[in-house]
Amino acid sequence: MPHHSTRVAIIGAGPSGLLLSWALRDAGIDSIVVENRSLDYVLARIRAGVLEQGSVETLTRLGLGDRLQAEGMTHDGIYLQFGGERHHVDFNALIGRTVTVYGQQAVVTDLVAAHNQAGSAIFYEAADVAVHDLESDSPRVTFSHDGEEHEISADFIVGADGFHGVCRASIPTDQIELHERAYPFAWLGILADVAPSSDELIYALHDDGFAMHSMRSPQVSRFYLQVDPTDDIQNWSDARIWQALQTRLGLPGWTLHEGTITEKSITPMRSFVASRLRYRSLFLVGDAGHIVPPTGAKGLNSAISDVTQLAAALVEHYAGDDTKLDGYSEEALARQWRVQQFSQWMTEMLHRHPAEGASGAEAAAFDYRSQLGQLDYVTHSLHAQRSLAEQYTGLPL
Ligand code: APR
Ligand code: PHB
Repeated sequence: MPHHSTRVAIIGAGPSGLLLSWALRDAGIDSIVVENRSLDYVLARIRAGVLEQGSVETLTRLGLGDRLQAEGMTHDGIYLQFGGERHHVDFNALIGRTVTVYGQQAVVTDLVAAHNQAGSAIFYEAADVAVHDLESDSPRVTFSHDGEEHEISADFIVGADGFHGVCRASIPTDQIELHERAYPFAWLGILADVAPSSDELIYALHDDGFAMHSMRSPQVSRFYLQVDPTDDIQNWSDARIWQALQTRLGLPGWTLHEGTITEKSITPMRSFVASRLRYRSLFLVGDAGHIVPPTGAKGLNSAISDVTQLAAALVEHYAGDDTKLDGYSEEALARQWRVQQFSQWMTEMLHRHPAEGASGAEAAAFDYRSQLGQLDYVTHSLHAQRSLAEQYTGLPL
């Protein structure tokens, strides 16, 4: 059985795991990454595409900024659309901060390229990944790879293995609580080969539901539609998707350009936070510890923030100071709950809430009008706009 020894064993090669391993390497700390899917799968996964200024700074500081500077699209703000009108919220004018539109897929591609060049230790397609001895100072990871059983001994294990991973599930159930909330809607997302029809992202609340216009490059657009979480992508022909986007995003005097749809899928939305991000020798980062609905574009930024904090804490640990490591869970969770409330607020404000129960239709109609009132306030009050700007562009670490 091949036996490996490292400082930090990282489970999962999504953005969290790859970035943590890269940040540790930058600080001279050894790690090994174990991923159960293939490299192709990891590279093909399409997720959100908005980087906060702090995330851009982190990636740049770690030497991952070249393509990001060249291809990332700096946006001064977003559009909020409702009641047949489109309003610009100019973050840059309001608080002097911007966001960068750059797909998570591009971030992962850059990380994989950097690791390849550096010859990092990453096992893809590892099977039966399991973590052991979390209560000890030398926890272990076991997995099989290419038909061989492997074992890693480490000082720490980091669960960067997403919502469905093994790490959080390995914490004794009486030691962790899960705070969770589902939403009665999902997002149908598409990628299309067509130049964006807008200079910045459009978040729209329409009578038929939420719709959004985002982008990936000057040639590729990304769109989302609110759909029922039980809906099937087979029910959505390309023609039906464009029709719904035209209806929900359309405005007189503005043209939504259509193109070939190259990808489409439906993703459920949830809010989830684990009560702790550390159990003895195990730390959780990114989606393994928390999930936000995508409306605030916070998933990737939260992962980057966790990783930045944990990497700094591990660096201090190896320099003989455990203060940051001991504070990691509490600090990351405090930040995460602020991000959670923002994501929940954006989500509830911008989606049609379906009628539920006896007086459901009346309540849903009331909620919708109340949401329009909220959007009216947000787009007209300087204070409300500043608050949105501050949260969207990223609260300080
Ligand atoms: N063993 C090894 N790897 C695993 C296991 C396992 N048992 N279970 C899951 N994984 C891998 C997954 O295949 C995936 O590649 O862990 C990785 C987790 O990646 P993500 O789910 O992308 O999570 P994370 O890296 O934290 O990224 C967070 O992704 O979901 C978005 O919006 C979210 O942008 C945020 C980002
Ligand atoms: C995206 O571009 O995929 C995207 C942008 C903003 C969001 C969610 C997703 O809030």
